[in-house]
Amino acid sequence: MYKYDPIDQQIVNERVAQYRDQTRRYLAGELTDEEFRPLRLQNGLYIQRHAPMLRIAVPYGLMSSKQLRKLADIAKRYDRGYGHFSTRQNLQLNWPKLEDTPEILAELATVEMHAIQTSGNCIRNITTDQFAGIAPDEIIDPRAIAEIMRQWSTFHPEFALLPRKFKIAVSGTQQDRAIVQAHDIGLEFYKDAQGQMAIKVWVGGGLGRTPILGTVIREHLEWQHVLSYCEAVIRVYNIHGRRDNIYKARIKILVKALGIDDFRRQVDEEWAHLKDGPLTITQAELDRVAHYFEPMPYKTLPAHDASFDAAVACNPAFAAWVKRCVHAHRVPGYRAVTLSLKPHGKAPGDITSEQMHMVADLADAYSFGELRSSHEQNLILADVQLSDLFAVWEKARAAGLATPNIGLLTDIICCPGGDFCSLANAKSIPIAEAIQMQFDNLDYLYEIGDLELNISGCMNACGHHHVGHIGILGVDKDGSEWYQVTIGGKQGNDASIGTVIGPSFSAEEMPGVVKRLIEVYVRERSDEERFIDTVRRLGVAPFKAHVYAEKESA
Ligand code: HEM
Ligand code: SF4
Repeated sequence: MYKYDPIDQQIVNERVAQYRDQTRRYLAGELTDEEFRPLRLQNGLYIQRHAPMLRIAVPYGLMSSKQLRKLADIAKRYDRGYGHFSTRQNLQLNWPKLEDTPEILAELATVEMHAIQTSGNCIRNITTDQFAGIAPDEIIDPRAIAEIMRQWSTFHPEFALLPRKFKIAVSGTQQDRAIVQAHDIGLEFYKDAQGQMAIKVWVGGGLGRTPILGTVIREHLEWQHVLSYCEAVIRVYNIHGRRDNIYKARIKILVKALGIDDFRRQVDEEWAHLKDGPLTITQAELDRVAHYFEPMPYKTLPAHDASFDAAVACNPAFAAWVKRCVHAHRVPGYRAVTLSLKPHGKAPGDITSEQMHMVADLADAYSFGELRSSHEQNLILADVQLSDLFAVWEKARAAGLATPNIGLLTDIICCPGGDFCSLANAKSIPIAEAIQMQFDNLDYLYEIGDLELNISGCMNACGHHHVGHIGILGVDKDGSEWYQVTIGGKQGNDASIGTVIGPSFSAEEMPGVVKRLIEVYVRERSDEERFIDTVRRLGVAPFKAHVYAEKESA
């Protein structure tokens, strides 16, 4: 993974010192709330319902075991002993004290971490596929470019005060796992007819109040120009984005208002001044950064392992875990493992300090000391030998990190909602917990099969409810909490935005509503058809009829 050089370290250290003084002056009454606000936001600190919330950057989700141990210790010492992995692959602390935050940032700086640009109207953490570099369907490993983009975007002087926050995702695989279409800019890497690395550029995607999937603005961009082209896109947005109306300020609204052709024309005009300038990435620079992401020191192993096969054959619980939580790897004899942060009845994405230490130990013992966070709010050990999988499972299970539910209904993406977030209309975590408890029978979950259920506590859509096969959105009606249900949303190459099925439900009704949606699916599905396929084939009507018929007769 990328290692700071002396300049990176100096920048982060200087920022800590600067923020320490700003916090001191605020606490001493020398700075007003208004004056301090932008300063704290530039360092990832929000003020929330109960306490500040600190969002720590995890660039493209990649962490060392040392960094995770530090996060564990920070969560223990300065928070309530746990953290929350977010859909931007970052880690959030929900209970730090304002006066402790300079010290937390100082501790983070000792392990090459920070919270810069995790909030505010700037370019946020660049996200990618959690299996980058090891996925069998990968065409281009996107991490070196993601790192180059990180260096370009952090502290970009022109883009520190954009009309709204700006999110970029990169993907280099056949199957998109980075949701490029739900981002302000999505970069899809591929090899062109000449075998050269090229990029398909998507623009104007985003969820929130007005969910829109991105449009392709450029089919073929030579990788050398990725920074200059993105700079041109963001420059046009920076000039014309709606600063007068926060709800219309995202690039998606601008692209929609201008139309993609006019937007593209303006970008190309802008790009003409930038192309081939200093932002051009040279092969030498790409090689230099790619060097940090070279393949791990893999052993030459056979494709099969007898002890592993035997363990799968005689241990159904292990076999179930392998089926759901173990993924293919491009190197023979290796697998990637997802550690589920979705045990039934707990807040999705939460992890305790003790668990973080356990995961760091697992990474050291079995996965070259590295791990990744996914936008689905789980953790990944990317490089585990087949022969070690049983030991990893036993240890992960003992730590509560081996619920075999990855990709199933209870692998819920969920925002913090009303328990923590001051913008929430409704609670989301208790809804996730209640649904997980309702579907606690693993056999039934397996029978249902692949299903994505995403929950947001308000229309900001942090939990990606629009792109969940089932999406749940917290809404406020006359001061009480209600939930609107969408179906048919999907992430990935054939992404779609879900359709609302009808009037909203109370919190108590929600597990039953999900149950009835599943009943329709189980009744109507053809062989091998996933929930999303059945919805796409039949439309909303039968689901709506069943869910509301039960409601009326109740
Ligand atoms: C508790 C503190 C949080 C606050 C105050 C907050 C604030 C917001 C706001 C205001 C938006 C709306 C942006 C827009 O207008 O498009 C938003 C969207 C979003 N947030 Fe959060 N959020 C919080 C936590 C989270 C968490 C925990 C996650 C991940 C689990 C997250 C990920 C996202 C994502 C993915 C979007 C959708 C952006 C898009 O594509 O349009 N946020 N958040
Ligand atoms: S979706 Fe709304 S309630 Fe949930 S974290 Fe985002 S802003 Fe808060």
